[in-house]
Amino acid sequence: MIRELTLDELTAEGETLGRSLPPGTLLAFDGELGAGKTTFIQAIARGLGVAGPATSPTYALVHRYRGRRGPVFHLDCYRLRSPDEAADLDWEGLLAEGDAILVEWPERAGAWLPPPARRFRLHHVADPERRGLEAR
Ligand SMILES: Nc1ncnc2c1ncn2[C@@H]1O[C@H](COP(=O)(O)OP(=O)(O)O)[C@@H](O)[C@H]1O
Ligand SMILES: [Mg+2]
Repeated sequence: MIRELTLDELTAEGETLGRSLPPGTLLAFDGELGAGKTTFIQAIARGLGVAGPATSPTYALVHRYRGRRGPVFHLDCYRLRSPDEAADLDWEGLLAEGDAILVEWPERAGAWLPPPARRFRLHHVADPERRGLEAR
């Protein structure tokens, strides 16, 4: 099922999800550029107690935020040129240490990606002020 949400609704949904996430959860987020993956992830991070947008360099593959219970990792695999580059990531360390591991463009990590607890897809829809959210 795809629900078409405004920015406020998507944000509220993400914050609620973040507040109820069990420790050590890996979530994956699919969807084309501008579909709202980063926006949704930042709302989830707020729900996990992340105070503000961390001043991470935009070229970083792994962003580390300080959440209420522990570190929240946000991975943007868009920049991986091949899945083999994901082999260099310390996936076990991220899973061991992370309160949450939120992965954008998960397909670019190929088989290196550990199995996500849940997978979301964001969609552009006819209404430019809404985005389709599909939870799988
Ligand atoms: N309903 C909506 N949900 C999410 N983002 C929206 C919505 N309406 C407009 N936007 C805007 O669309 C853009 C989504 O960008 P972003 O989250 O970076 O997408 P992605 O990470 O998928 O490339 C943001 O500028 C956001 O403000
Ligand atoms: Mg993004």
